[in-house]
Amino acid sequence: MRVALLTGGGDSSAINAAIRAVVRKGIVEGLEIIGMRNGWQGLIEDNVEPLYMGSVSGIIQRGGTILGTSRNNPFKVERGVERIIVNLRKYGIEAIVVIGGDDTNTVAMRLAEHGVNCVGIPQTIDNDLQGTDYSIGFDTAVAVACDALDKLHTTASAHHRIMILEVMGRDAGWIALIGGIAGGADTILIPEVPFTLEEVRERIDKRRLVNKNFSIIVVSEGAKPEGQEAQFTRDQKKDPFGHVRLGGVGIWLAEQIEEKTGYETRVTHLGHLQRGGSPTVFDRVLATRLGAFAVDMVLEGKFNHMACMRDNRVVAVPYAEVLDGTKTVDLELYEMAKLFF
Ligand code: F6P
Repeated sequence: MRVALLTGGGDSSAINAAIRAVVRKGIVEGLEIIGMRNGWQGLIEDNVEPLYMGSVSGIIQRGGTILGTSRNNPFKVERGVERIIVNLRKYGIEAIVVIGGDDTNTVAMRLAEHGVNCVGIPQTIDNDLQGTDYSIGFDTAVAVACDALDKLHTTASAHHRIMILEVMGRDAGWIALIGGIAGGADTILIPEVPFTLEEVRERIDKRRLVNKNFSIIVVSEGAKPEGQEAQFTRDQKKDPFGHVRLGGVGIWLAEQIEEKTGYETRVTHLGHLQRGGSPTVFDRVLATRLGAFAVDMVLEGKFNHMACMRDNRVVAVPYAEVLDGTKTVDLELYEMAKLFF
């Protein structure tokens, strides 16, 4: 049986670990694995690469993806779906393993209506896919955020400053929340809970009252003040899935805090450092388990499902469930985090 493998959407650090698991387990089970370069674009443009044991040797610790990625949307490309079907037939491919986030896997789900068999693996640093406790890449991104907070702590304390760290997380504040708890943040601002400048100021003042003359604030790129409709954006250009580039809330917040409190404030925009570098142990193992399980799903014909991690067990969850909205943060956990603000 010939199976295609592709990686789409924004990258993260443990994709190669998942590719390795799919290829190695797949070959052992007698499958032929054909890599598609640059996400759905590879299938549309017939840009393929057969994968062998040797192709995935020494990649478990490497960030990025050996297959390349893109935010290509076949439903927005002229004859995109038709070209995918033609190329699948040309290579005799019976199933596709899709490593990606909500956009990439939504394409996979829609392709089922065209008779294309897909199995998904959740991959996004935002950790916002339903049905799975963790998506691969999230743990590494949080570790990067936590490391940044540790570093900001020392300089914040030396200069008695307010330090703001802006992290990724479009509609879900997982990186800000988990990174902020681990990094001892004094305030965590997330897209799920609009904030007011008054509460931010109160928290800063509360710190100063107990002789702590610096503050650490983590803000998710998607967070916004109460009453503001739109998130902060870089520009209005949209990607093929209709998303604009977020960013700027940290700078805005710093200006407001300096103006209202007079305290010196600095901003660090963590950006794509969260997506790069070597994966953590947790991410490597997660990617390996999900990748191996995805091969079992292909062999069992369990298509239109995603390999998910639930309570430390890997299970197959229907795409319809996984892609039914965004997995936002656990608000009970956010309440607990507030104890430390
Ligand atoms: O992968 C998701 C994500 O990390 C979002 O949090 C962020 O808004 C987006 O990617 C930025 O992606 P890019 O710079 O690749 O367009």
